[in-house]
Amino acid sequence: MKAGREELMEIIDLWGYSEDAQARIREILESEDVPPPHLFRYYGDRPGKVEQAERLFERTIGTPHALAVNSGTSALMAAIAAAGIGPGDEVLVPGYTFFASASVVVASRAIPVIVEVDETLNMDPEDMARRITPQTRAAVIVHMKGNPADMDPLMRVAADHDLTVIEDVAQACGGSYHGKRLGTIGDFGCFSFDFYKIAQSGEGGFVATADDYLYMRAQSWHDTAACWRPDRYAEERREGELFCGENYRMSEMQGAVALAQIRKLDGYIGALRANKKRIRDQIEERDGLALRRQPDPEGDASTSLVMFADSRELAEEMMAAMRERGVGVGGRFDQTVRDWHVYSYWEHILEQKTVTDEGCPFTCPYYEGQLPDYGPEMCPNTLDLLSRSMHMGISDTWSPEECDRIAEAINSAVSEVLG
Ligand SMILES: Cc1ncc(COP(=O)(O)O)c(C=O)c1O
Repeated sequence: MKAGREELMEIIDLWGYSEDAQARIREILESEDVPPPHLFRYYGDRPGKVEQAERLFERTIGTPHALAVNSGTSALMAAIAAAGIGPGDEVLVPGYTFFASASVVVASRAIPVIVEVDETLNMDPEDMARRITPQTRAAVIVHMKGNPADMDPLMRVAADHDLTVIEDVAQACGGSYHGKRLGTIGDFGCFSFDFYKIAQSGEGGFVATADDYLYMRAQSWHDTAACWRPDRYAEERREGELFCGENYRMSEMQGAVALAQIRKLDGYIGALRANKKRIRDQIEERDGLALRRQPDPEGDASTSLVMFADSRELAEEMMAAMRERGVGVGGRFDQTVRDWHVYSYWEHILEQKTVTDEGCPFTCPYYEGQLPDYGPEMCPNTLDLLSRSMHMGISDTWSPEECDRIAEAINSAVSEVLG
């Protein structure tokens, strides 16, 4: 059954246009006869939207290859598969990230090793080095809440141990570190375009890599039936190209939205950056109040501002005083609230809950290491930092006056608590 005008009208309704506008749009659409759209990313007779989104994303972040996929989780899975990581291998993941960064390791039948975060709230390079074993093959380095991870020391540790680096840029799309866009520093950059992200297509994602071979393998994994190849039924062009993958292809509808979003990305990030900088510059750091460390303030994607008090109790008092002054601030760790951004709630991993009964990968016969001592206390620094952290989302629509008001309210709330 072909898609046509009725399907497009449903999309226009999804956008929420009034009945009157919809009637007028229908009239315009009925005045022209067009062939049905080609909603599959391959084999169209016009340049596809997914293809255009990929090329624009490559130019925007400066990478030779960007592969569109149907989610950020899929992007991570494709990167792990492309790197040939699986049974017997360990992969380092930070203790503060959305659970997907770690769940993909288990879903790929490898062992996740949870690593502390430091005052950047991203992976701590010293703890990363400590947790490396002969089984360690890769690190998923996450840029949480817009703030770039400190890539120089992290990349040094990875290079010393010959690890594959997968940057998880789901929460920092458009950010950069010392002049290089996030996602182009490690072997892979994995992006999410789900609804809550900086750029979104409802669901979606991208895998970026500079390596032709890794790109070919990610491409194969994401397109199980090998629909796209210069000749669909060709023999393997290069060893490692053909294997049984999954279907992570992005549809043309997601591609169209992603394309428009990528065009807006730098303008949006610019507005966030200006607002965050204006607020941050006015916050008075003092004994009892620290700001989250920014390894590259210029590169921060600036979706959030995070501050630390000296204790959980003081953080709660300060946040209450900020909220009284109209500042939308929230904590990031509360024993009473299950939050899958904090490893201590990842019971799937801590209790080794697996999809099949034999317990793979935790019981994997190919695994020659010693399982990490999984438990809620395995990264105490991470829990300490999060317990006294205060988080505020940044808006691109705030005026300079609104930013000044917020900064003043934060300073006044902190003074009320600390004296
Ligand atoms: C850090 C991080 N990694 C991965 C993901 C997974 O992305 P998706 O929801 O597109 O699968 C998310 C989404 O919340 C995320 O925040």
